[in-house]
Amino acid sequence: MIKPDAVANGHAGKILDQIIQAGFKVVALKYTRLSEEKAGEFYAVHSERPFYGELVSFMSSGPIYAAILEKDNAVEDFRKLIGATDPSKAEEGTIRQRFAKSIDANAIHGSDSDENAQIEGDFFFTAEERF
Ligand code: RTP
Ligand code: MG
Repeated sequence: MIKPDAVANGHAGKILDQIIQAGFKVVALKYTRLSEEKAGEFYAVHSERPFYGELVSFMSSGPIYAAILEKDNAVEDFRKLIGATDPSKAEEGTIRQRFAKSIDANAIHGSDSDENAQIEGDFFFTAEERF
């Protein structure tokens, strides 16, 4: 997901370009906005964490781009491409280092496992929306 901050700041095109240049194939892509309820559902694993309320409110604050991406070793390589959760700790050239402002407004989400990538892909896309 390209998060609301990066969309609002006009960085979505550059981020998508960096993803494609890094060798990821775009299998599905959608411009949409999460309701608070859907954002809460998406991040349900964090529901007990102190930052959950802010996370849900931020993720539903504006439109996002959702995508399914394909590549060998995709989860690990994508986490490397996006950089650390806190952009002040993200490596030079990573998406979060380039485009994120704070740990909350951190530009992009990446799945943390193949299993969650499957669940999160199904959250946004039907079979007919994948190519
Ligand atoms: P994401 O799921 O969005 O790709 O981020 P992530 O794996 O790098 O980090 P995760 O631990 O899954 O946390 C999800 C989002 O919650 C916010 N967060 N805030 N204040 C805090 O300590 C804190 N920790 C996490 C971040 O916006 C993070 O992206
Ligand atoms: Mg995560």
